[in-house]
Amino acid sequence: MLRGPVLLLSLVVVVFSVLILTQAPARSASNTVSTNPSDIAAGAVLFEVHCQSCHGYQGKGGVVAGAPALVNVGAAAADFYLTTGRMPLNSPSNEALRHHPAFTDAQIQELDAYVNALPQITGQGTAGPTIPSPEPLCSVDQQKSPTSVDLATQDPGCVTLSEGQQLYAVNCAQCHQAAGSGGMLSGGNVIPTLHNSNLIQAYEAPLIGPKPMPIFSQLSHAQLSAIAQYVQYLKKPSNPGGFGISGFGPVAEGFFGILVGFVLLWFASRMIGNRG
Ligand code: HEC
Ligand code: HEC
Repeated sequence: MLRGPVLLLSLVVVVFSVLILTQAPARSASNTVSTNPSDIAAGAVLFEVHCQSCHGYQGKGGVVAGAPALVNVGAAAADFYLTTGRMPLNSPSNEALRHHPAFTDAQIQELDAYVNALPQITGQGTAGPTIPSPEPLCSVDQQKSPTSVDLATQDPGCVTLSEGQQLYAVNCAQCHQAAGSGGMLSGGNVIPTLHNSNLIQAYEAPLIGPKPMPIFSQLSHAQLSAIAQYVQYLKKPSNPGGFGISGFGPVAEGFFGILVGFVLLWFASRMIGNRG
């Protein structure tokens, strides 16, 4: 007697737990660079142990072919390479790919603080870009939504998904695809999916240009914010047509339809056959 309701209830529990688990917000990275001397000192110790063998004493480079000097790359570059687990490399000939971060959030902040302080420590050059604080999305009922002109020339205080979509289509889609699913570049370079990037990483990447991706220095703070917000939206776009099957695209969707459709048809015909 109880089988039906209990089964239904457990099914609902399972479905909701899956929904809640998959909706868990991505770890938000900290976006202020510490200038506290004790953080910089702690970062220097980590740097000596984990980075100096390739990037040189005080990040001046010139030790290992291919490992650049880090004096002027800025906290944004350190933060991007560390929070995406691209650094430290095991061998300079390895490709810098996305991995689970090798350091805790606190250690990453200390290394960011040290790399940020390198121009002062070495007395060379000026600091590169700092860790960004992207603009929030405009609320739906906001009276005036920012226009392209606002995004290019001034700070509108908030950004819209439609602006982000347009800027993404022009600047990023040729490599990362319209849905952010990634692909291949000539020369065997892999273009990664953007579905693992949080808001700050999605802003940092065009700001610093992880090779072979270019630096987008022509984009304003508001434009980079709009793109980064749109990249977050791409992780779970609304699917007005129904079930999204992870945005595999039209070919896969047709194939999926035929496969599932045939199985359903087969079932239906079996049932009809049994009754007759
Ligand atoms: C085994 C050698 C090796 C080690 C160890 C290593 N790196 Fe690197 N690093 C490289 C190479 C090679 C590149 C260039 C790769 C690329 O651009 O794809 C690089 C690039 C970088 C960049 C990007 C620089 C730029 O021009 O934008 C940053 C930032 C960085 N490393 C930080 C670190 C930090 C911080 C550590 C220590 C936690 C570290 N690396 C450890 C070899 C190394
Ligand atoms: C010329 C092709 C190209 C264009 C254009 C391009 N990218 Fe990339 N992008 C790449 C490649 C290649 C990588 C991998 C770099 C690496 O691993 O060192 C990458 C990496 C990234 C990452 C890191 C993803 C991860 O796995 O951690 C983000 C975020 C990103 N790009 C965002 C953007 C945004 C936003 C734009 C547009 C403003 C853009 N890219 C334009 C080629 C491109």
